[in-house]
Amino acid sequence: MITLGIETSCDETSVALLETISEAKNNANFGAPITYRVLAHTTFSQIDIHAVYGGVFPVIAKREHARRLIPLLLHTIHEANLEMTPINQTPESLTTARDTVTSILKEKESDLLAILLDSPFMTARPAIDRIAVTVGPGLEPALWVGVNFAQALTTLWNIPVIPVNHMEGHIVSTFLKEKTVEIPSSPILALLVSGGHTELVRTEFSSAGANCTFSYSILGSTRDDAVGEAYDKVARMMNLPYPGGPVIARLAQTARDRFALSKTTNPITLPRPMLHSPDLDFSFSGLKTSVLYLIEKMKTGSADQATMSPETIENIALAFEDAVTEVLITKTRKALEQQADTATPIQALIIGGGVIANTHIRVAFEALACEFSIPLELPARDLTGDNALMIALAGALKNNFAPEKLKAVGNLSLEN
Ligand code: KG4
Ligand code: ZN
Repeated sequence: MITLGIETSCDETSVALLETISEAKNNANFGAPITYRVLAHTTFSQIDIHAVYGGVFPVIAKREHARRLIPLLLHTIHEANLEMTPINQTPESLTTARDTVTSILKEKESDLLAILLDSPFMTARPAIDRIAVTVGPGLEPALWVGVNFAQALTTLWNIPVIPVNHMEGHIVSTFLKEKTVEIPSSPILALLVSGGHTELVRTEFSSAGANCTFSYSILGSTRDDAVGEAYDKVARMMNLPYPGGPVIARLAQTARDRFALSKTTNPITLPRPMLHSPDLDFSFSGLKTSVLYLIEKMKTGSADQATMSPETIENIALAFEDAVTEVLITKTRKALEQQADTATPIQALIIGGGVIANTHIRVAFEALACEFSIPLELPARDLTGDNALMIALAGALKNNFAPEKLKAVGNLSLEN
């Protein structure tokens, strides 16, 4: 089966063509392996466009998705060497097809409509079996581009479409091993750490016939900023480029290496919000405010009263990353301990989302998984950020075909 994945929830326009050979769907325990092949996977990152604003602008994200999506899909189909089957070969059927996609896209996606009407997709369709599209959570104007495009394609090509929750995509991104899709035994504890989310989720997978069911129960989440968002905001406070995660991580590592070499410790420490609260919730806005006060203090004490030394910036990055890591680890440990007392204790820990690109955090979680003697599944580094491959996989694993009309939902929860 070949699934086309479409992802436009934030600032990456991404499409993927995933082939899965699934004997496992009829196996209640997912015992048999699902083999897969990535036929092609292309992502256009808008980061450079948004970097000048220090964050993602929804209207610009929408415009860029609309411009890029169809050329990107054409390129991806070409890369995959997928055959295109002729459709709408008579003038009448072509007119009907044009009228149909116009009625779907006219109101909201005029840019996309103009490109689609001129594209080969009006008269030929690739040999794919289904479409999987991100319907939320994310920036609604950005989500709608992918959703409306999928709606037009499903009608034009007469193939089913599966709505996918973006966070579910981050979860299943951890299942992609070298050649097979490996689903750990349930229940699983998933920690999702991205620019929009910080969530601990108890996750169960089951299958009834050919239909896999995923069920989620959110054990804890952030009460304010998401962890990736905190990285981005702290970076902005220090005039560092967007996205803040990779740059803070690099500076923190420089400081970590320097202290290790000199056998000294960081003079800066920052608070660990909600570390000892009895629940499994997170809060990062207090930490961000502490960084802000610290920066003000450091600038006042610096030679030119306006800037900080590179060393001070590195030390702040390290103190911030240490605080974040300790909070994430402590809350996940608490969740594992609480779940150990239930009738069905956690069998595996998985971590998804952009922040798990962070090497220091990855290593800390490897130690935590050892402590509990459970397997830890992390996404490959090139799949930590937003991508359509994880969306295609989520769509390939289930049969929850969309009702007549797809809908983008900015604040979609995994529990819906
Ligand atoms: O999952 P993702 O690509 O997009 C969302 O769904 O939000 O996550 C993006 C977030 C950004 O906030 C970015 O700063 C953060 O992931 N990030 C990192 C690292 N790489 C990206 N955070 C910490 N360390 C990193 N190496
Ligand atoms: Zn994401």
